[in-house]
Parts: sequence; C-alpha cells; structure tokens
Amino acid sequence: MSRRIAVFASGTGSNFDAIMKAVEADRLDCEVALLICDRPGAKVIEKARTYGVTTFVFDPKNYPSKADFEQEIVTELKKVEVEWLVLAGYMRLIGLTLLHAYPSNIINIHPSLLPAFPGKDAIGQAFEAGVKVTGVTIHYVDEGMDTGKIIEQEALYVEEGESRDSLQQRIQAIEHKLYPATIQTILNLGDKRRERGTKHEEKSTT
Ligand code: GAR
Repeated sequence: MSRRIAVFASGTGSNFDAIMKAVEADRLDCEVALLICDRPGAKVIEKARTYGVTTFVFDPKNYPSKADFEQEIVTELKKVEVEWLVLAGYMRLIGLTLLHAYPSNIINIHPSLLPAFPGKDAIGQAFEAGVKVTGVTIHYVDEGMDTGKIIEQEALYVEEGESRDSLQQRIQAIEHKLYPATIQTILNLGDKRRERGTKHEEKSTT
C-alpha cells in the first residue's frame, strides 16, 4: 500500500516515462498502479499501455463540475489503493475533492524556480522575461496555482543566445533525473513517518 503511486499527466508523458524507467532500473522502489489522464488521445496513454500500467482517462467536458470528475478519480484511486499522487504534467488545478481525499500526499513538478513563473508555459514565461537563471521545482500541492511547500529545486543558467527549445530540453533533462529521485526520498520519508507512528502506538498501548 505505502509504495503504490498514481501518476497524473495530460500530454507527452516524458516525466511518466522517466518514472517508469527509474522503477524498472530499481532506482525508484514503488509500483505505478494507475495513470490518470484528462486528455483522451494524449501520448502518455500509449506510453502507459506499453508499460502495462492501468489507465483512467476522462474528458472533463463530460462532467458537470470538477468535484464530479474528481470524485470519480478518487473512486478509481481507492480501487488500486495508492497512497501518493504524483502530478507529472497534469495541466489542471487540483480541487478540494482530491485534496481532502489525499491530504499532504500530492506532489507536482514545475519547470521553473517557484515562486517565479507559476501556471502555464513556465519555460516560455522565463524565456520571454530574459532571466539568466531558471530551473525545476518539486512541491507539495495545495489549493493554489503552484503554491505548495517546496520539496526540491534545481537551477540552471540560461546560456547566452540559447533558443527556447534548447532551454526546454535542458530543463526536461533535469526533471527526468530529479523527479524519480525526489519521489524515492518522499516515499522513504513516508515509510519512516509510518514506522514512528506504529512505534508510538505500540508504546502507548503498553
Ligand atoms: C513538464 O515540463 C512539467 O514540468 C510541466 O509540464 C511538462 C510535462 O511534460 N508541468 C507544468 O507546467 C505544471 N504546471 P511531459 O508530459 O513530457 O512529462
């Protein structure tokens, strides 16, 4: 139970791929029990199938509200008994239904040094702003737009005259290493937290 995660993604899925490769290479000790995707036809769905990962694909347009589709997501997550929700390019704000169902157990990766450049197209925003330094942030998810507590960051210098494409490639290369490693750290911390809880319970009953 503790080592089961669900990945949420909306697009290409290169971070999903990096997570799966890390699992296969034993660099990440967990089972990806479910891929949740809010865009039917997204490339990540095919990737999940090649890895044999169960998918739950939905179209938000078919639901009256965010609460309705998130309630269905919660039902799917409970079926596969995941503990951690890992957002990897899920381009949608998480609502209260999911936040209440998984408090403190949702993490996200964002391609900027938050709090700079939250929201969509963070790489484009940083590029247009002409910053010399940008990077990648991994953070807990709260009800805000990329505002949760920061877990990990890695910076990189934007090279003189660098193209947006090159910057994107270098940022994604960082993401593909940093996310699996950080997920591993978070899972280990979760195990320790649980052990301490169990020991505390044992002590308090003797
Ligand atoms: C990643 O760069 C991720 O950091 C970003 O979307 C991309 C998804 O790429 N996420 C956000 O901007 C979230 N605000 P991928 O589908 O190839 O993993």
